[in-house]
Amino acid sequence: MASCFLLVGLLLATCSLVALASDPSPLQDFCVADRDSKVLVNGFVCKDPKMVKAEDFLFRGLDKMGNTTNAVGSNVTAVNVNQLPGLNTFGISMVRIDYAPWGQNTPHTHPRATEILVVIEGSLLVGFVTSNPDNKLFTKRLEKGDVFVFPEGLIHFQQNVGNGYAVAIAGLSSQNPGVITIANAVFGSNPDISDDILARAFQVDKKVIDQIQSKF
Ligand SMILES: *[C@@H]1O[C@H](CO)[C@@H](O)[C@H](O)[C@H]1NC(C)=O
Ligand SMILES: *[C@@H]1O[C@H](CO)[C@@H](O)[C@H](O)[C@H]1NC(C)=O
Repeated sequence: MASCFLLVGLLLATCSLVALASDPSPLQDFCVADRDSKVLVNGFVCKDPKMVKAEDFLFRGLDKMGNTTNAVGSNVTAVNVNQLPGLNTFGISMVRIDYAPWGQNTPHTHPRATEILVVIEGSLLVGFVTSNPDNKLFTKRLEKGDVFVFPEGLIHFQQNVGNGYAVAIAGLSSQNPGVITIANAVFGSNPDISDDILARAFQVDKKVIDQIQSKF
């Protein structure tokens, strides 16, 4: 019995170690992503270090505003391993987020990253919601220079609460954080999640679900 508890304890300890980890640590100075390799690994295969150039560690253009003329009024310019191959295995990335007046970065999660955001221009209302059963909303109005953190995996959002444009820069604890936009994933999946399932989940009539699904 005691050894059984010990085993369960060991398993739990192992699980929590895995859950605490972010992207794996590099085992060499760098491992620039070789996107031409046919070999599939967790992340990208390393480019031959002898072929690596300064450009592999460079991204230019984060001074440029994204086009916010869209349904939500925001634009995310990502600088992750897909734009900057030198980020492979480093466990970090960043984004620039532009917001039209009253624009939003709608509720979403990053399955692989915690996010730390700084407001460069304007005022933002930000928030995140904790997991079940509490689903507690932590929310704050941020001004230029304010920093806020969104814990890994939790649903979060930002809204521009000013009449001018707003800009934020955020760092993320993954070379490839991933994004799940709640509305798109739930109502715009391909193929659709059946309206029967969503009507039950959201406690509304199927017609309401069909109407929302038609927008995505
Ligand atoms: C974000 O801005 C870029 C650059 O202006 C543009 O190419 C892209 O289509 C925009 N994305 C969205 C979702 O509006
Ligand atoms: C921004 O995107 C909108 C909608 O796609 C487009 O009509 C407009 O020309 C774009 N603006 C710029 C500056 O590219």
